[in-house]
Amino acid sequence: MYYSDDIIEEVRSANNIVDVVGSYVRLQKKGANYWGLCPFHNEKTPSFSVHEGKQIYHCFGCNAGGNVISFMMNYENMTFGEAMKALAERAGIALPEVNDEEAKRRNSKRERLLECNKAAAKFFYFNLRSPHGEIGMRYLKGRGLSNETIHKFGLGFAGKNSGELISYLRKEGFEDREIVEAGLASHNERDGLSNPFWNRVMYPIQDQGGRVIGFGGRVMGDAKPKYLNSQETLIFDKKRNLYGLNFARTSRVGNFIMCEGYMDVIALHQAGFSQAMASLGTAFTVEQAQILKKYKPEVVYLAYDSDGAGVKAALRNIGILRDTGLNCKIINMRPQKDPDEFIKANGADEFQKRIDNAENSFFFEVRIAEEEAGDMKDPAVKTAFHKEIAKKLCVFTDEVERNNYLEAVCDKYHISFDAMKKLVINTAADVDREKVYQAPKSGINRRERIKDREKLPQRTLLTLISDNPEIYPQIKKYLSIEDFTDEIYAQIAKRMFDDLESGNMNPAAIVSMYTEAEEQRIVSEVFNSEIPNIDSPEDTAKAIKDVLIAVKNAGFEKFSSEIDMTDAASLNAVVTARLKRDSELSEIQKLNIRL
Ligand code: GTP
Ligand code: MN
Repeated sequence: MYYSDDIIEEVRSANNIVDVVGSYVRLQKKGANYWGLCPFHNEKTPSFSVHEGKQIYHCFGCNAGGNVISFMMNYENMTFGEAMKALAERAGIALPEVNDEEAKRRNSKRERLLECNKAAAKFFYFNLRSPHGEIGMRYLKGRGLSNETIHKFGLGFAGKNSGELISYLRKEGFEDREIVEAGLASHNERDGLSNPFWNRVMYPIQDQGGRVIGFGGRVMGDAKPKYLNSQETLIFDKKRNLYGLNFARTSRVGNFIMCEGYMDVIALHQAGFSQAMASLGTAFTVEQAQILKKYKPEVVYLAYDSDGAGVKAALRNIGILRDTGLNCKIINMRPQKDPDEFIKANGADEFQKRIDNAENSFFFEVRIAEEEAGDMKDPAVKTAFHKEIAKKLCVFTDEVERNNYLEAVCDKYHISFDAMKKLVINTAADVDREKVYQAPKSGINRRERIKDREKLPQRTLLTLISDNPEIYPQIKKYLSIEDFTDEIYAQIAKRMFDDLESGNMNPAAIVSMYTEAEEQRIVSEVFNSEIPNIDSPEDTAKAIKDVLIAVKNAGFEKFSSEIDMTDAASLNAVVTARLKRDSELSEIQKLNIRL
């Protein structure tokens, strides 16, 4: 659906964010903000804030944020268009009828692909409940799933006539091109469109917001391949999604259980472990670890298969989780193979005991190294094993933590503390963390961190201006859109300064410039930077100057680094820019900002 800026703003402003969010989350007023437990991550003390004046929300724990439309999109798993409809209805506003052709043309592609996957999920869902879905239903029931669980995970069935899905989607208004791009069909000259899912039970894969982005389809017997997963598409990025996370992230248990298979996740949820999730039939990634970290779990439990492949995957993922700064423990499921089988054989209480007794990841690694080492009576084997322990100890960069592990491991394996300490010191010199864990390099991570450091003053400056609009006329002389190095920040700054010129700055309306949840989150973050040590107007004035200086400096750095200084003209340009910056900085220093 396409709506004009005016109608978007009308619907948004007719729905007070405090009332809307308040109907889902218990909010309490403290200072200028309302606070509550964040519905988007596990937490025990409130870091979720709703600002009535700005009409936006922001979570200081997981960085979720946006305006009232974003909230509906994220909380109710709606598309932008659906959120508009719901809010218009709530406020009694009649939305204009939009011409369908026009709407289709202008609709964002992502939204269309999401709608297409949602329609397919609906089709599979009803199929499972129709007479020819009976064998699918029998299969799922045979695996012990209740009606409630089948409903919760939106399970469905793809029948023997795989063309039915395509005709259904066409009837729903999707073009062939869209059906292909949504990953629901492939195209070839001879047959036209064909749908890969044939005679399988279907597991919709949802993003963190619960929107269907792809499918896993399982054969009902022993045929190969056991699972057929949707190809990656614009909306289905296997590196950045986890099966079940849409439920697990709000479980409030404070930890996650990571499994290997879809069925494991479903069985654990049915047994009451709502914190379970799995990577998507592909290796666990650094990106996924970073997503989990946003929810600040105390522990990530690994519930991988008990076989060799499961152990190998656990060893690999321990490294990734540790590199990301997440604490991880390993659940032993023996003699069963996986969580699904374990629960069937022993029940939920026994699984809880296994969680309580989960093994610390360091001791797990040492134990596996011991098993693999061979005969400990052989001094060479024993020495190699001790060296291996020393190598693993080197991974702990915190000395206290390292010494604690050192002591514990020496105790457990009857090794002399002093000898091991010496070994660790010798090993530390030539250990390369990446080699020990073979974890993917966290280079992207570091680059993003550096980039964020550059963006922080820009964000803080925008927050300070939005909180204290009266400073804008006092500093606007020094504000330049070019100093905002990030594209979206520059757009926000431009709109904000324009709004301030016309005297009606409105953060929530700025959020509405964007229809993607992630962009809306970034905007709300810009209006919610954490500003330390501000108690008085003097502090604020000082903070404004400091931040403005940091922004000007970074802007100049960027300008001069982008210029190719091989000729006199560009050299001149840099010198001029530097002079201008220097004189601006000394003026800013002298500014007497009034609040
Ligand atoms: P069940 O046998 O139904 O209990 O499946 P499971 O969910 O326990 O799966 P399993 O432990 O065998 O595999 C773990 C995960 O790997 C699955 O959930 C799938 O995501 C993926 N997977 C397994 N087999 C295949 C396959 O044949 N093809 C693809 N693409 N993925 C697979
Ligand atoms: Mn299984």
